[in-house]
Amino acid sequence: MSDQRNYRDCLSRFATGVSVMTCRPENGVATGITVNSFASVSLEPRLILWSIARHSRSTEAFLNTDGFAINVLARDQEALSAHFAQTERPEFADLEYRTSDRGHPLLDGCLAWFECTRRGLHEGGDHHIIIAEVDHHELGRDASPLIYYRSAYRSLD
Ligand SMILES: Cc1cc2nc3c(=O)[nH]c(=O)nc-3n(C[C@H](O)[C@H](O)[C@H](O)COP(=O)(O)O)c2cc1C
Repeated sequence: MSDQRNYRDCLSRFATGVSVMTCRPENGVATGITVNSFASVSLEPRLILWSIARHSRSTEAFLNTDGFAINVLARDQEALSAHFAQTERPEFADLEYRTSDRGHPLLDGCLAWFECTRRGLHEGGDHHIIIAEVDHHELGRDASPLIYYRSAYRSLD
């Protein structure tokens, strides 16, 4: 097994949740990307981080706007995860979502939502690391989370 393959396999043993980051930059076109790099950093102040590939189709949108939302996916939202992981820019037209007071697209049926303002942008190899302050948070459904483990979607139970 190549060292690269082995490294990726080791990383894949770390189970995570799955979120969709959404934003509506100044051009008004909503966009989103599926991520599992979301993590809490600080409780006071409320800071979170996530990383986005330098050459992702969504990178420009997320670097051109300070605000974005985090949509925490439930086990039955695997199709949404796949939708926002596609290489083509994902359409919102056929999705059920609302636009928050802050202008962020919030996907229906999520476990929780966070609305954030970017406070830091750091280079992290082939990714940018985004640090942001949480301005607003909201609990959603009390349902099972979508888990990503060993390169596949899983359930907690
Ligand atoms: C479960 C899962 C987690 C992902 N996590 C990230 C992430 O944290 N950061 C990121 O930039 N891309 C992540 N991706 C990849 C993007 O969702 C997406 O597939 C990729 O940006 C496709 O667009 P591209 O071809 O323009 O890169 C993840 C994909 C999946 C399925």
